[in-house]
Amino acid sequence: MRFHSSFYCLFIIVLIFSIDARLIPLQREINEPLIIDVLSTNNNLNIPVISTNNRALQRQKESGTPSSTGPVANTTVCYPIVGCFDNNEPFNNAALEVPQSPEFINTGFLLFTQEAPTNPEIFSYDANDESIMKSSINPSRWLRIIVHGFQNNRESVWIAKLKTELLKLKNDEKSDVIVVDWGGGAKFPFYANAVANTRLVGKLIGLFLKKLHKLKGISYDKIHCIGHSLGAHTCGFTSNTVDNQLARISGLDPAGPFFSGKKIVVRLDKDDAKFVDVIHSNTEIALGLGLGITDESGDIDFYANGGQSQPGCPSIGALLGGVLGGQSEAAYEQASCSHGRAHGYFIESINSECPYTAFPCHDYNSFMDGKCLVCPISGCAQMGFYSIYSLGRGKMYLATKSNSPFCGYHYFVELVLDRDMAKTRGEIYVAIYSDYELLANVSVTERGNDDIKAGDIFRHVFSYHTDLGKVDYAVIYFQKKILAFGWGGPAANEIVVSRLRLKSLEDTVVLSGRCDASTKVAAYTSEPLLLNRFDCQD
Ligand SMILES: *[C@@H]1O[C@H](CO)[C@@H](O)[C@H](O)[C@H]1NC(C)=O
Ligand SMILES: *[C@@H]1O[C@H](CO)[C@@H](O)[C@H](O)[C@H]1NC(C)=O
Repeated sequence: MRFHSSFYCLFIIVLIFSIDARLIPLQREINEPLIIDVLSTNNNLNIPVISTNNRALQRQKESGTPSSTGPVANTTVCYPIVGCFDNNEPFNNAALEVPQSPEFINTGFLLFTQEAPTNPEIFSYDANDESIMKSSINPSRWLRIIVHGFQNNRESVWIAKLKTELLKLKNDEKSDVIVVDWGGGAKFPFYANAVANTRLVGKLIGLFLKKLHKLKGISYDKIHCIGHSLGAHTCGFTSNTVDNQLARISGLDPAGPFFSGKKIVVRLDKDDAKFVDVIHSNTEIALGLGLGITDESGDIDFYANGGQSQPGCPSIGALLGGVLGGQSEAAYEQASCSHGRAHGYFIESINSECPYTAFPCHDYNSFMDGKCLVCPISGCAQMGFYSIYSLGRGKMYLATKSNSPFCGYHYFVELVLDRDMAKTRGEIYVAIYSDYELLANVSVTERGNDDIKAGDIFRHVFSYHTDLGKVDYAVIYFQKKILAFGWGGPAANEIVVSRLRLKSLEDTVVLSGRCDASTKVAAYTSEPLLLNRFDCQD
């Protein structure tokens, strides 16, 4: 990204998790972030407050005595049950914070079963063997563990939705669910502490699983840890505690800040479990903005809609304008909306018929330009719960719809312009109809510049909620762009389309307009084009 080189020494990580209070650490060089808290009392006024004493405040809260010093290098803390943690490289990634005490974090495990879907059995992090022996957990079922991220706890709405969908699973997928609540160690605005705490919480979960293994005969082969944001890395540490024997980890937009580009021992990676699937929904956009990690972290990494931001969430333009212009409301909306889509997609995938097909591709632009339209022999992959049964591995791309249900089927539109057409400027839309009903209206020029020249080929992938098998015609609309002072030379008042093709990515269906006829579309007008089930020779 172009911004990066010019801001080499000063990059900004924006952590925006709360409507009424926001935290923006300006990370200078490698260490010591300068923290700017942006506190707002309403939607209009944001007052940036520069403070470097969040950690001092935290210590004060914990111990009751104010401390004027921040964390220092070469610190080790030791606690009963979990042992010792230091902040030496590579574990100096949390601004030198070390994990807080198990008592302070007060992790709880809530066991839900199909027999008791709403009244959990609750275990403390230091639950004794006797209480574990008495639990109704069933070793013949899968054990799905849900781990939340920063500023969440057992009350977070998405957790209840995910739990409900998991408890509906049947037969070989039948599951018990444990919700991990570590909200005491994930509180706003102490992000660096929460990052450090993922190690300790992961270990606590791992030790709890060891007991379930020993006392209740639960097999690691049937344990699946599902973590959102910081929770994804926590799942990694959980599996580390049992020698990476967990069957599966699903990382839902694993947290980026303090983890991006770091060694794999401090973050989720594919060796942490037998199978690791990752959904990226809010990766770094520019200037370090974005709550999720960009790094490939699993056996399969799904970059939904490219992974940076999600359709239906406020635009990237609003985000950048908002942050740089001091209006962080838009930034908050965008970041939390896109970051949260990862669990939205996963939840929807569990009991939906829609396949969430994703395609291996070098990058998102290539995917959208139609360069990766067929599943290679190495296979495609299904995003979400069923990804474990997919053949494909590596980076996968897919488009989703902008609202729920998010899963759609992919279609590829290709529009070829006549070789003798005069050049012009503007935007070309293709609307798809079935039985006089408008199904979709996509801009094929969306990602290009405004120039439209003879022989141009526009290609665009879009997502639609059902099979477009019955499509019968398209309507092409040309919106000419008017430039002041005639910049860019003369622009024709029409475009001439020599071919239009619509292809299903999930199916073999190809629809084309007449192969030997071209269609003139005058500026600001629409022209219909019949589509038939055949493909034209090139
Ligand atoms: C931390 O400890 C290592 C070796 O134990 C030492 O080399 C290093 O200088 C120490 N760093 C600081 C900042 O004290
Ligand atoms: C498609 O969208 C464009 C831009 O919003 C609009 O001008 C055009 O009329 C639409 N086409 C149809 C057929 O609705």
